[in-house]
Amino acid sequence: EAPEADVLVIFGITGDLARKMTYRALYRLEQHGLLRCEIVGVAADDIGLDDLVSRARESIAESGTTVDDEVFTRLAGRLDYLSGDVTEHEVYRQLASRIHRYQRPLFYLEMPPSLFAPIVEQLGKADLLTGATVAVEKPFGHDLDSARDLNARLHDVLDESQILRVDHFLGKEPVIELEYLRFANLALAEIWDRHTVSSIQITMAEDFGVTDRGSFYDKVGALRDVVQNHLMQVLALVAMEPPAGDTADELRDKKCEVFRAMPALDPAHCVRGQYEGYLDVDGVEAGSTTETFVAMRLEIDNWRWSGVPIFLRAGKGLPERVTEVRLLLRRTPKLAFLRKSTQVDANQIVLRIDPDPGMRMHLTAMGKQTWQNVHLQTLFAGELGEPLEPYERLLHSAMSGDHSLFARQDAVEETWRIVQPLLDNPPPVHTYPTGSWGPDEADSVVRGHAHWQEPWLGE
Ligand code: BG6
Repeated sequence: EAPEADVLVIFGITGDLARKMTYRALYRLEQHGLLRCEIVGVAADDIGLDDLVSRARESIAESGTTVDDEVFTRLAGRLDYLSGDVTEHEVYRQLASRIHRYQRPLFYLEMPPSLFAPIVEQLGKADLLTGATVAVEKPFGHDLDSARDLNARLHDVLDESQILRVDHFLGKEPVIELEYLRFANLALAEIWDRHTVSSIQITMAEDFGVTDRGSFYDKVGALRDVVQNHLMQVLALVAMEPPAGDTADELRDKKCEVFRAMPALDPAHCVRGQYEGYLDVDGVEAGSTTETFVAMRLEIDNWRWSGVPIFLRAGKGLPERVTEVRLLLRRTPKLAFLRKSTQVDANQIVLRIDPDPGMRMHLTAMGKQTWQNVHLQTLFAGELGEPLEPYERLLHSAMSGDHSLFARQDAVEETWRIVQPLLDNPPPVHTYPTGSWGPDEADSVVRGHAHWQEPWLGE
């Protein structure tokens, strides 16, 4: 673990992410007694510190939090603001004079990715990188080449151990829980492989469209927006071997090994969809073929998972908001001791990530003379209490020098390698009605193995 940061510098403090997530996360950290350092916001807006403080307060209230005056005053007391053009040297000179007394700054870049490298280079020129850590928001590249270029530019001035690549899914409690659930429970650990699991389904469904993000989303699409990053990171935790020790790199080694065992995607095993009405969204290009839904079959060709297909689908404009991982187990042999019915449904294990995280097992029991599916389940909120929110946890980890919840260079490049064939040769895009489970063609992805399972909804 790296030492704790002694100052947090947020580039883009007046931006959208700060408004929606960062202030709230900082407020909650303050409330939980987990904030220990000064915060300097940097942005182009020509405003004063008072303005920034009132924006912070508004943003926190807008995010649905009741603002406690005492907590907020403590948070506001840590804030400082520096206005300037981040492409110019001047702002770094001023920043250097504001933070010269600190040794371990954490720079958090909530900026467009085209500015990551220029900002880091300027920080280097201003001699601000010694002892520093730099956190960058997604997207981390838009394909394999651009991700490699960006890594190379960052590595010109930073060591990999100084870079934190933020993926907010890695801050979600059920995602973190995967490692513990899998390996701390022999009942799960012993069946978590190709001998017992016949296939895996990962679903990320959103019951809303691209809303006001048309011009961003149209250049990105579902594959880049949530599959290459969020869902691949989840898959790695589902599939990895137990880490050999408790360091961030031992965990990240195991995750990366999963990716290295995955062949690049075959576009013939992918279906892309676009919800009806997408083309009317502001910022979307006329005739755009950007996908708002993608379904695919992946493989992990290693000792544990060889032969177990992994089906993944993600989309907007679907009927529900739900993200889950589902393991479909193999069937039992015929149950000859029961004359009437000889084949029962296979067991399933579901980890629900959103909403209302929890775990559920589908078992079979004997009802009134017929087999019946029954569930064994737990909702984490009830059993485990209220978790830290993703951004709260990630900021806290970043500031405490714990890198285990951040994506490492090798994993990011591997995941781009895996999805790259689909970027090079995208299959045609099929329209689907808003509020459906995507285009009918998505069934072809799972055909011969299983059906797409209806996700676990409600209690
Ligand atoms: C973001 C994507 O990274 O994740 C969005 O850009 C998506 O398109 C969001 O809606 C989903 O995150 P969450 O935590 O709200 O499920």
